[in-house]
Amino acid sequence: MSLTAGGVLAKSTRSGLRIGGMTQTSKPAVLVTGGAGYIGAHTAKALAERGFTPVVYDSLVSGFREAVHWGPFVHGDIRDRVALAEAIETHHVKAAIHFAGLIEVGRSVARPDLFWDVNVGGTTTLLTTLREHGVGRLVFSSSAAVYGQGGRGPLETIGETAEKAPASPYGDTKLAAEWLIQAQCRAYGLSAVALRYFNAAGADPSGMIGEGHEPETHLIPLAIAAALGDGKPLTVFGKDFDTPDGTCLRDYVHVADLADAHVAALERELADGAFEAVNLGAGEGKSVLEVIDAVGAALDRDVPKIVGARRAGDPASLVANPARAAALLGWTPRRSSLARIVEDALRWERAPKYGVGLRGASARRGSLTGP
Ligand code: UFG
Repeated sequence: MSLTAGGVLAKSTRSGLRIGGMTQTSKPAVLVTGGAGYIGAHTAKALAERGFTPVVYDSLVSGFREAVHWGPFVHGDIRDRVALAEAIETHHVKAAIHFAGLIEVGRSVARPDLFWDVNVGGTTTLLTTLREHGVGRLVFSSSAAVYGQGGRGPLETIGETAEKAPASPYGDTKLAAEWLIQAQCRAYGLSAVALRYFNAAGADPSGMIGEGHEPETHLIPLAIAAALGDGKPLTVFGKDFDTPDGTCLRDYVHVADLADAHVAALERELADGAFEAVNLGAGEGKSVLEVIDAVGAALDRDVPKIVGARRAGDPASLVANPARAAALLGWTPRRSSLARIVEDALRWERAPKYGVGLRGASARRGSLTGP
């Protein structure tokens, strides 16, 4: 079964596509849990552009009300079955994309109980509620964190069947949630796609939405802040990894490309009960030092930096083999060159609409208006 942008549910038959008997509306409603967050907001925009109505359901614990522009907003916790049910009924939801969850790897080491409660418990509650309301299609926001380092060499790319050895409780909860979803597909005929993101980065070129984590822990916004902020240097977390320049390799993928992949996953025809896991990355590893250089080049100034100790839970290398995303979803990243990612991130960081956080208002008032 697939959800089409034309506003109807289509069921496959031997003779091809048959339009199913569900209520037809011009813009099918898609529940977007965590839709006020970074990737969720970009996906809500992409859904609206493809003719869907994104119903954003978010607790605003880490999301921003200012990031919701493209459909109704419902304030609620992912563990709240009553609020979820009301959102599904009120807005005639036909499918769901599930982002809501905790994402900070370091915090997950300190608070594994909380991560299991929100990420796994929340997914259980959502799945039960979707089943009770006959919503049979799900796209799940998973992560390359499910792989960890495993037994891979530093330059090996990762396919979907690679060993799963999460390096943090965050990765454990994403893997556990995938298992739960897969089991419910088998048991109840739900069809689902788990999208395992590598390093989401950049911002929508409109300047309306962007990265607004509080506190910010991600490399690109912190490198921009170090270059344009109050001069506090960026700490490079370890230079003794088994990689070409000793710093970690990551696969940076533009958030607008990720958003497109969610729509493709929703529209992909799948048999009832099917579960698919798909890596979303550009397929190319960039080191921490290469990213810092790209930020420096875009700004034509040095990024102040010091080399510090390794951060707990950081694998040396996480680089996708993105072949399955191309084959299953027809998806290839179009905006994911490092230069384009940094350019779009910089536009946002100079004029963020929300989420000042660590980088601080003083930095923004100062040289963020610079080159
Ligand atoms: N890094 C630094 N200094 C910093 C911040 C980051 O050296 O101040 C390094 C990290 O050690 C890592 C790289 O930059 O090697 C990228 O770090 P990010 O924090 O930007 O991203 P992560 O790779 O740690 O994590 C991201 C998501 C996770 C997801 C993971 C999967 O935030 O949710 O990608 O690849 F699990």
